[in-house]
Amino acid sequence: MTAPELEVYLSDSDATDALHHDVRAGLSADPKWLPPKWLYDARGSELFEQITTQPEYYPTRTERELLRHNVREIAVQSEADTLVELGSGSSEKTRLLLDALMATGSLQRFVPLDVSESALRAAMLAVAQEYPGLTVRGAVGDFTQHLELLPASRGGRRLVAFLGGTIGNLLPAERAAFFTALRAALDPGELLLLGAGLSTDPAVMLPAYDDAAGVTAEFNRNVLHVLNRELKADFDVDAFDHVSVWDPQSGWIEMRLRACRAMTVRLPAVGMTIHYAQGEEMRTEISSKFQRAAFGAELREAGFADPTWWTDPDERFALILAAAT
Ligand code: SAH
Ligand code: AVI
Repeated sequence: MTAPELEVYLSDSDATDALHHDVRAGLSADPKWLPPKWLYDARGSELFEQITTQPEYYPTRTERELLRHNVREIAVQSEADTLVELGSGSSEKTRLLLDALMATGSLQRFVPLDVSESALRAAMLAVAQEYPGLTVRGAVGDFTQHLELLPASRGGRRLVAFLGGTIGNLLPAERAAFFTALRAALDPGELLLLGAGLSTDPAVMLPAYDDAAGVTAEFNRNVLHVLNRELKADFDVDAFDHVSVWDPQSGWIEMRLRACRAMTVRLPAVGMTIHYAQGEEMRTEISSKFQRAAFGAELREAGFADPTWWTDPDERFALILAAAT
């Protein structure tokens, strides 16, 4: 096995500055909100993996089946020498892509990028052990900021995988900026493989964000543990209820935390004291569920052409392979 290399695009002090900035902005807003990336400390990453095994959470298993059935075509179309994975987490489904790209003989290097260093390190080590001929070069980074730092191909082409539906966790303006930045970071002909949740029956979507075992609730509340630890805040975590709501106007599921009682919370590291009214709700994540025509237009406008779409029979999830023009 070649030892995996870890690059750090996002240092601890940059991450601290970013957290301070986001907390100052989000917790002084009305209604209060927090960006979802702060859900993913080591515990949050573990809880996300548990969510993926809950019976109500269909996205992961649906995407895995789409990959299983179409991965050979993806590998043949891409002929990639480098597989980049954004928001890679455990890279569990990515093994299907790695197997297919290794089988075509084109793949030399795997570049996972994630903000969660613990998840990234564990995944890199496991992949390096399982694929001894592959160069594994991970990056701790933010996919909304660090795309231009990604390594160039080695004379061939890169395939950028962005799986899981994580694109849906970006606000519309962030999503547009992400597509533009990604297109700018790619050479013409390089490929994006995108996993995206599709808009479907709320009776299917909502339970996926409110599983009976309470794992999603714990994942959601975990962000308060992150603030308590990182900002020396004094949130009473158990005094917040997990809420998930389908917003048909926006086309997204919102995760929120609802204050069970009126509370005053101190966050000394950012010099803030904030108040929650009883029943007040704070947004912790959006998860957009897309309509095919509008989403295809967004990709085209950003400079991704000729997309191939694969969807499950119930049209709950899509895998999209599109080339940078
Ligand atoms: N791709 C995996 C994991 C999805 S969970 C899958 O399909 O199952 C979302 C992942 O994105 C987490 O590992 C989280 O740490 C990471 N993430 C969230 N926001 C990020 C950001 N802004 N930049 C980089 N990684 C991010
Ligand atoms: C990572 N992301 C695509 C997940 C989602 O479905 O939006 C995160 C998640 N939030 C609650 N459950 C899972």
